[in-house]
Amino acid sequence: MIRKGIILAGGLGTRMSPLTKAVNKQLLPIYDKPLIFYPLSILMLAKIKEILIIVNKGQLDQYKKIIPDGKRLGIKIEYAEQEKPKGLPDAFIIGKEFIKKENVALILGDNFFYGQSLTTMLKKCVQLKSGAKAILHKVANPEKFGVAKVKKNKILSIKEKPKKFLSDLAITGLYFFDNNVVKYASKLKPSARNELEITDILNEYKKKNKLSADFIGRGGAWLDTGSIDDFYKTTNFVSAIENRQGFKIACIEEIAFNNGWIKKKDILSSIKFYGKCDYSKYLKKIIS
Ligand code: DAU
Repeated sequence: MIRKGIILAGGLGTRMSPLTKAVNKQLLPIYDKPLIFYPLSILMLAKIKEILIIVNKGQLDQYKKIIPDGKRLGIKIEYAEQEKPKGLPDAFIIGKEFIKKENVALILGDNFFYGQSLTTMLKKCVQLKSGAKAILHKVANPEKFGVAKVKKNKILSIKEKPKKFLSDLAITGLYFFDNNVVKYASKLKPSARNELEITDILNEYKKKNKLSADFIGRGGAWLDTGSIDDFYKTTNFVSAIENRQGFKIACIEEIAFNNGWIKKKDILSSIKFYGKCDYSKYLKKIIS
């Protein structure tokens, strides 16, 4: 059972400069809330209550203004700083003390997931006892991602941003690992682009026949908000669904309330924290 999760929310956001010169990418808005709410909501939907958020060195205060700790959400949130963007597996080196002897989920701070069967899939993934699980989704531009060639649920090969077509199944930024990940991460060497690669970790599990895959499926959406264009596309997606159906995607207080982690009084304190805004109006609706 996985009870701990890491959100990797650092990175220089160079592709989105000048927007990211003063503010970290994960604090920029996707429609009506900061991007970080979306990956956080995914861990909460997976019933993960112990969360480490890794941020850029010097940007901790920005994050603490919006998510000071997990108290309002009935969860435990810790922060750690990343010296510089050394690559995704650095999360397990920085997070070693947080992970201790347990298994762990990792979600990238700029990944957006949505879909009806998502919660069912997440509940299944956190049951992982040993090995690793990658979540795959079909995309039109696989050269931009880590990709996996699969046969049924078995991963045959993996490659980071392949120049030559391998498969149209992208490896999304949500992963589930047993505790060996800490050991594997500590032994990694930087790749040709001078980064520690998550695909090298996944390959380590594959070599030992310990890597499995799950799929988001056609009914679900996965968007990587790596560029300004992606930000607007994701914003349009969220606004279309929220305005059409009258509920919010990634309202972290609503998820905590539905999980039974917080009470009416905690929602009222969130309303006070956010002040007069549409988000607070929505929170009022939840408890009325
Ligand atoms: O989004 C899924 C893809 O994410 C996977 O398909 C790829 O296999 C994986 O390598 C990764 O590729 P990206 O090129 O999208 O990764 P990027 O460098 O953009 O980083 C993703 C997020 O993680 C971003 O919000 C910044 C943060 N990050 C990244 C690095 C390298 C950190 O906080 N620290 C880091 O050292």
